Amino acid sequence: MTLDKPYKDIPGTTIYDAEQARKGYNLNQFAMSLMKPENRERFLADQSAYLDEWNLNPVQKQAVLDMDMNTMIAEGGNIYFLAKIGATHGMSFQQMAGSMTGMTEAAYRDMMVGGGRRPEGNRLKDLDGWTPPSNEKAQTMRPDAPAKFTSALFTSHVPAIGAAMDLGKTEEPYWKRVFDGYEWTRKWAKDNAPDVVILVYNDHATAFDASIIPTFVLGTGAEYPVADEGYGPRPVPDVKGYPEFAAHLAQSIIQDDFDLTLVNEMVVDHGLTVPLSLTYGELGPDEQWPTRVIPLAVNVVQYPVPSARRCYELGKALRRAIDKWDGEELNVQIWGTGGMSHQLQGPRAGLINKEWDNAFLDHLIADPLGLTEWPHMEYVDEAGSEGIELVDWLIARGAMDDQFQGGEPVVDHRFYHVPASNTAVGHLVISNPAAPHLSEPASAGANPEETTE
Ligand SMILES: [Fe+2]
Repeated sequence: MTLDKPYKDIPGTTIYDAEQARKGYNLNQFAMSLMKPENRERFLADQSAYLDEWNLNPVQKQAVLDMDMNTMIAEGGNIYFLAKIGATHGMSFQQMAGSMTGMTEAAYRDMMVGGGRRPEGNRLKDLDGWTPPSNEKAQTMRPDAPAKFTSALFTSHVPAIGAAMDLGKTEEPYWKRVFDGYEWTRKWAKDNAPDVVILVYNDHATAFDASIIPTFVLGTGAEYPVADEGYGPRPVPDVKGYPEFAAHLAQSIIQDDFDLTLVNEMVVDHGLTVPLSLTYGELGPDEQWPTRVIPLAVNVVQYPVPSARRCYELGKALRRAIDKWDGEELNVQIWGTGGMSHQLQGPRAGLINKEWDNAFLDHLIADPLGLTEWPHMEYVDEAGSEGIELVDWLIARGAMDDQFQGGEPVVDHRFYHVPASNTAVGHLVISNPAAPHLSEPASAGANPEETTE
C-alpha cells in the first residue's frame, strides 16, 4: 500500500516532489529572491550574511557557499530555482549541469557535442528489470488502514455567523435559532476531536484574487493565518496544517489523475474559520483549534467551476489517498462547507429554496451518485448563484465507506434553518459505520430538524 515513488531509484536523478519541496522550501525561496537585481547585489557583497536572512539549515547554507549543486538538490533544491544562484555567479546552464557530473567543464561540453549521455546503463530498467507501477485505482476500502476516515461534517459557512460569535450576539433570538442547531455537534466534537480535518471550502476573493484562478487547491503548508476580509481578521486562532500528510495526499491524488494546485502559504477566510468556530466554539487568537486542518479550496467564484461529478470523483481519489497512508494512526474527518441556497447579487438576491435544499440533503445522504448527475444549471437556477458552493459537499461524500463497497453512513445529526443573513443554513454530520457515535443523537436523520424564522 505504500505510495508509488519508483522515480526515487532512477540513477543519478532526484525528482522534485512535494516531499523534496517541503525540505527545500526556504532554499528555493532564497534562490527566487535573486530574481531582483538589488538582492543579487546584496548576496554577492556578503553571501553568508544574506543567507542568514533565509533560515536555511547548515548543510543548505554551506552548499550554497560552496556552489555545490548536488547537495542543494539533495536538500530539496530544484534546478529551476537553483539556476538563479548560478546565474548570479555568471554561470551558464551548461556549466551548472556539468558541475554536478564529476566531469571537467571541457569533458562535459565534449560529451554534449558528441550526442550527449547515452541512456543505456543509466536507466532504472537497465539496472534491475524495472516494471511499470500499476495504475489500478482501488474500488474497495483498505480495512487495516492506519488513517481512518470516521465522519463527514457538512455546514454552511456564512460570514455573518462568525460575526455574530465575534460580537457576542449568539444569545439574541435571531442567532440563537441558528446556534441551537449546532449544540449537538459541539457536544459530539468535544469527545471526537480528530487528528486532522480535511476542510473543503471555497475562497471568497481573499487568498486568490483575479490574477490566479486555481480550480482545486490543497494546502500543504504548516500554518495558515486568519485573513483580513476588510473588517479586520476574525479574533480566532490561526490554523495549523499537517504538511507531511498533505504532501502524501497530494502525491496520491495527483497520481490519481487530479491536477491539484499545491499552496504552501495562504490566508484563510470565513469559509474555513466559520465551520471551525461553529464546531469548536469561541476560541481566542491566542488559543489553538483542537485539530490540524488541511484546507482544500474549490473555485466557485469564476466560471467555469468544477462539476458535482468532478467533486465526487475527487472525494474518491481523496479516500484512496487516505487509505494509502502508512504513517501514524490518524482519525481523519472531511468537512464539506458552503451553501445552502443563497444569492448575493442582482435583482434576484435573497433567493432561498427550502424544498430544493432538503432534497439535496436527502440525496447527499442516500443517493450521492445520483446527485452527481445534477448539472451546474440546476444548482444556480434552483439554489441561487452562490448556492453553487454546494458542489464542495460532494467531495466528503464521495470519500465515504459505502462508495467503496463498505457500509452505509449513519446520520448523526441534521439541521436546516432560514435565514442567517442572506442564506439558508444546512448542517449534517454523517459517519462511517465504524466511527464512534454519541449514544443519544440530538436529532435523528430521518426526522430533520427544521426551523424557519
Ligand atoms: Fe461561501
